[in-house]
Order: sequence, then structure tokens, then C-alpha cells
Amino acid sequence: MVCIRKATLADIPEAKACDLLCFPEKDPITSLSFLNDSMFSPSRVVYVAEHGGFIVGFVVAGKEKAQKTKIDEEEIEEECGDGYISWLGVHPDYRKLGIASKLMTAAENSMAQEYGCEYVYLHVGISNHAALNLYAKVLRYKFHCTEANYYGGEDAYLLRKQLTEEQPLPLAEAAPKAKKKHFFSTYFCCAQLSRSDSTSATQPRSSCA
Ligand SMILES: CC(C)(COP(=O)(O)OP(=O)(O)OC[C@H]1O[C@@H](n2cnc3c(N)ncnc32)[C@H](O)[C@@H]1OP(=O)(O)O)[C@@H](O)C(=O)NCCC(=O)NCCS
Repeated sequence: MVCIRKATLADIPEAKACDLLCFPEKDPITSLSFLNDSMFSPSRVVYVAEHGGFIVGFVVAGKEKAQKTKIDEEEIEEECGDGYISWLGVHPDYRKLGIASKLMTAAENSMAQEYGCEYVYLHVGISNHAALNLYAKVLRYKFHCTEANYYGGEDAYLLRKQLTEEQPLPLAEAAPKAKKKHFFSTYFCCAQLSRSDSTSATQPRSSCA
């Protein structure tokens, strides 16, 4: 049975080994230092999938950094409430068993409940069909924008998911026009991905402009 749990420092060497199997082109030192940094960062969370005492998958998620905005010549640092999935990988021998779906759900719950994130974002290479299916069909992420050359030559889609649902109004306050919004009501269709603009995106982020 596969167990999804928060990572401990003891998991790092095996998580790194799994990371390098998932992303063979990755530099081992970068992998190790990112995992180590993530473990000590108060704004990041690492979940691992454990099977028979071995780490067979991991996900790293975090709250995005604060943004600086200028109001009346004064620079104000605003906390950005969005989450971001940085890394996800499942050992090649354990794929198609639902492990990535479970890891992602754990990370999303943590982003919403522990970090209070309303949205979570992630990048995915446009040729990564396995991950695109996972995010779009199973987890219902929606297209936000395309970023050129994001992965050293390969374009990436920035996908977004709303984590918190709008609270329904008490009946007495609910005017006829105040319809409850149905989030996740439309599947993110891969055909949409070929568009360079987004009609589903309400507020394009500056990084995509
Ligand atoms: C992408 C990845 C994380 C999926 O892990 P996984 O544990 O096999 O995923 P799941 O078993 O939870 O699969 C969920 C859905 O993803 C999609 N999917 C997974 N593998 C797929 C594949 N090889 N081809 C097409 N779709 C695939 C399917 O829609 C699947 O649902 P289904 O089983 O009902 O068809 C894994 O293939 C991986 O580690 N790849 C290398 C690293 C990587 O690309 N990470 C993501 C970076 S953005």
C-alpha cells in the first residue's frame, strides 16, 4: 500500500534519487539543495509517497513570494495568496497507479488549509502529455497562459486551479441575480492549450504578459 505523508529530513536522499529518475537531465546538486531548502522553508511543503519503506514519489509546493506594489510613491509589500507546485515526480516503476493524483491532492489541501491559498499555479511543458492529462483531466487545472522557452527551449503552459469555493449566501441575503458559482464546472480541454491567449483567465499575471 502507498502512504502519502509529509517528508522528513531522512527522506531527502531517496527523494533525490527518485527526482533524478524522473528528471534524468537534472543536476544532482541542484536537486538535493532544492529539496533540502524546501524542507526548511516555512512557506513550502514536501509530500512523499512511500511504498514498502521506499520513497516512490514526491511533490514540492509553496506559497508564492510577496509582491511589491507602489501606492502613492510608497512601496508596499503585499502578501501573495497563491500557491505554486514546483516539483512532482513518481518513480517510473510506480506510475499509472494514482500516486501523482494523491500527492497533488495532499499538496493542494495543504496550500488551501495551512497556507490559505485561493489559487494554485503550476508550469508544465507543452509536450508532457502524461502530466497534462493528470493536471487537466483528472485534477481540473485550467489554462492560464503560455510562457515561451520556459524549460530551456521548450514552451510551458501555466495552469491554475481555484482551491477555495465561494461560500453560498444565506437564503435571506441571496438576491435572484446572486447565483452560486460553479468552480471546476468545465474541463480544461487540451485543445484550448494551443491558444496563446486565455479567455478563461480572469487576471493574467504580469509574468505572462
Ligand atoms: C506525470 C507523472 C507525475 C504522473 O504520475 P502517475 O503517478 O503515473 O499519475 P497518476 O497515476 O496519478 O495518473 C493520473 C492521470 O494522469 C494521466 N497520465 C498518467 N500517466 C500518463 C501517461 N503515461 N500517458 C497519458 N496520461 C497519463 C492519466 O490521465 C491518468 O489518469 P488515468 O489513470 O485515469 O488515465 C509521472 O508520469 C512522472 O513522474 N513523470 C516524470 C516527471 C514529470 O513529468 N513531472 C511533472 C512535471 S510538470
